[in-house]
Amino acid sequence: MNPQNTETEKTSDHNAGNRTVVDFHGQPLEFRIVGPDDATILGDYFVSLSTETRRRYGPHAFDRETAEQLCATTDPGETLRMIAVDRTAATPRIIAYFILILGVRDDDVVRYQILGIPLNAAQDCTLAPSVADDYQSKGLGSVLMRRLVEIAREIGRTRMVLWGGTQATNDRAVHFYHKHGFTTVGEFQEPPGFNNYDMILDL
Ligand SMILES: CC(C)(COP(=O)(O)OP(=O)(O)OC[C@H]1O[C@@H](n2cnc3c(N)ncnc32)[C@H](O)[C@@H]1OP(=O)(O)O)[C@@H](O)C(=O)NCCC(=O)NCCS
Repeated sequence: MNPQNTETEKTSDHNAGNRTVVDFHGQPLEFRIVGPDDATILGDYFVSLSTETRRRYGPHAFDRETAEQLCATTDPGETLRMIAVDRTAATPRIIAYFILILGVRDDDVVRYQILGIPLNAAQDCTLAPSVADDYQSKGLGSVLMRRLVEIAREIGRTRMVLWGGTQATNDRAVHFYHKHGFTTVGEFQEPPGFNNYDMILDL
């Protein structure tokens, strides 16, 4: 996904992923939807992201104001903003933030249409995952991904696509998505000169 690529087509669905616990290397980890009380820890997470991660991941601005807005307006009927919370530290800390839109985005729809793969706002969902820099490549994303796929299935979604695709140079993300069953279905340039892959998962 490319930074600041934000337009959305919305659809509604019932609440999901309200509170769930995943096992991460033998430790229970909270994986749940952000709520109104999470603005401070979500802001901490956003401002902690490195330049390298922001270069790969940019669904919206990463500042405290955005965290406050998102926590105040979160609507699990449209978008699941899932956070993984480490409670073993002195103060709870968000160590991953996965966005799952229950629907599809306009510019993704256009690209998939050209590929001959019509997206369906009522049945498809759209993923944008991130893991804190110091937790990347330790298996956390995979644990959360498996749970998120279960949640998407539980709420009746049948396919998952990547929000704005993934940068072709993002080798780890490309490996990660393939490992979780995604298929590469297209390639596009955004911005011009920079290749990205569209990848889709049948749920
Ligand atoms: C992509 C991301 C969500 C994956 O989460 P994660 O916790 O790091 O993922 P995991 O540790 O579960 O899995 C990473 C896999 O990539 C592999 N990997 C790590 N670096 C790699 C590289 N340079 N090239 C290829 N594979 C690589 C790991 O070995 C692991 O594969 P394995 O389980 O087969 O051994 C996370 O790395 C991240 O937030 N990256 C920055 C933001 C980003 O790129 N978001 C996605 C935008 S489309």
